[in-house]
Amino acid sequence: MERKQFLKTLGGGAAFALIFPCLHGCSTDDPEITGTIVEEPTGVDFTIDLTSSEAVNLATNGGFILKNLVVVAKNLQGEYVAASQVCSHQAYDQVRFVDQKGGIFYCDVHGSQFEQNGTPLNQVDGNAAKTLKVYNVELSADMLRVFE
Ligand code: FES
Repeated sequence: MERKQFLKTLGGGAAFALIFPCLHGCSTDDPEITGTIVEEPTGVDFTIDLTSSEAVNLATNGGFILKNLVVVAKNLQGEYVAASQVCSHQAYDQVRFVDQKGGIFYCDVHGSQFEQNGTPLNQVDGNAAKTLKVYNVELSADMLRVFE
């Protein structure tokens, strides 16, 4: 039986499932994940005005914002921390700050977890995880500088 005939016998739905199994990304465990593989930012050095609208989520402990591929968070103790949004596992841009284990950086693509200093907390795919890049933060009045 030829491929075309085979697909015809399956019907439209089954043929579609066989031909397009990766519409939402094959390398993720969750079909809702829409991360993108990107390069880790270099030369990071920017300032956030904490009174501006872009910083609204930093008013609350546990809140975070994304800027220039950096996750800037106000941890559960009220201190500012920053890490790469680009996961050290497979470079998806899905690292976020989450209220788990006292506040960690987390990538939902494959479940990598990192301490606030970038130290990996778990293994993914049985491989030793790499450290997540973290950045310095410096608060001066209402201005928060994030830099390497
Ligand atoms: S890319 Fe795999 S856990 Fe982040």
